[in-house]
Amino acid sequence: MASKAIQTVRAGVLDASLYDDLSTSALPRISRGAILTALSRAFDLAEGRRPGHAQRVAYVGVALAEELGLTGTRLEEVFFGCLLHDVGMAATPQVVRDGPVAQRPGARDRLAAVPQGGWADVIEALTLHCDHGANVARRLGLGESVARAVASHHDCWDGSGLGATPGDKQPLVARIVAVADRVESMIDAEGSPLIVRRRGPRLVREMGGTEIDPELAERMAMLAARDEFWLGFYDNDLATGLMSLNYGGVMGREELFDFLGVMSDVVDGRNGREPGRGRRVAELAQRVALACDMPERRADLVKVAALLQDLGTLGVPAHVLSKPDILTIEEMGTVQMHPTYARDILSEVPGLGAPAWWVGCHHERVDGKGYPGMLEGDEVPVEAQVIGMCEAFDALTSDRPYRKAMSRADAVEVLRGLSGTRFDERVLESFEAAEGPFTTP
Ligand SMILES: [Fe+2]
Ligand SMILES: [Fe+2]
Ligand SMILES: [Fe+2]
Repeated sequence: MASKAIQTVRAGVLDASLYDDLSTSALPRISRGAILTALSRAFDLAEGRRPGHAQRVAYVGVALAEELGLTGTRLEEVFFGCLLHDVGMAATPQVVRDGPVAQRPGARDRLAAVPQGGWADVIEALTLHCDHGANVARRLGLGESVARAVASHHDCWDGSGLGATPGDKQPLVARIVAVADRVESMIDAEGSPLIVRRRGPRLVREMGGTEIDPELAERMAMLAARDEFWLGFYDNDLATGLMSLNYGGVMGREELFDFLGVMSDVVDGRNGREPGRGRRVAELAQRVALACDMPERRADLVKVAALLQDLGTLGVPAHVLSKPDILTIEEMGTVQMHPTYARDILSEVPGLGAPAWWVGCHHERVDGKGYPGMLEGDEVPVEAQVIGMCEAFDALTSDRPYRKAMSRADAVEVLRGLSGTRFDERVLESFEAAEGPFTTP
């Protein structure tokens, strides 16, 4: 049987029928843990890590927490701390020496000891992504324990890092997340599963007392001496196993929109867009979907897809996305991967097959000149056209580095010019019915 994964490699074999829940007509009942397991692959993209880094860290963290006897809420805190530890890699660059990190006790002295350039850039990236990630955890409603674990995942266990107060030992959840991150990186660096299976326990013990808590290192080393740990770590269905834990509880309709709205804000922030842009496009897409006579439940799915449409841009370097000049062919190719990245990530979420397919098609054109699949006419889903049209309208009516925002009337005139080529004219009629009347302000 063909695999969805093929579609990343060859746009020529794009096949909607692989998304077997395309006829889904309502929002899935999905837990915070399940959806974050899938979305964490986007954080890996932003960090440039091998896909599945955050998921493997979550596996190690939960295994260690269970080894230590943690249950219930604390186990879930470890899980979310691990999945989100690097979500801050989607941070907007700032100057750390004048930023909030520098205000912490002892931080200024340590920063002053770092030479300008080189290490300073490294420290800046580390400290900023910890702070930014902790804020994302708070905004997702995952609690202060998770936020603190994310904030301090690069600190030393005894409280000697930039994010900590000296002498203040990290809480247990934070120490477990830090161990899991270091251990996964160590395993990844070793390469061969057989070699790391043999050397792993010793390497973990050697990290104890320096970077990681010596007591946790010893327990982790004991865990790494067992075959079951390694069988789980290298399991091809690791993501499915993590999703099936269903940590964080199943979300209702509004909770799901809020949760994904935060993710949309993360993507907007990283790409230098004004806050709320993604939410605004999603609200508009939902209204246009209703104007296209879609049932309310289908329009809800369109809103979900619109909130996540640019998730894949986390795999495109920020300087390329914000370049105020014509892109090179190579840069254009990188940008054009973003629908494919997002489609592959979302297609892993149970019940989001249809939004995954639409997101993957939101830059297709009815004249067959779009990307990534060069679909034509009715092959381009109406839902994808709605999302693409709303994004285009919002972009035209927003300021950009190279031009001022257009009026709504001028923007819809541009859309009319694309009718029959970029979009089906019937979709444009529904758009005007939902948004109009268009008059020059
Ligand atoms: Fe990190
Ligand atoms: Fe990491
Ligand atoms: Fe896009």
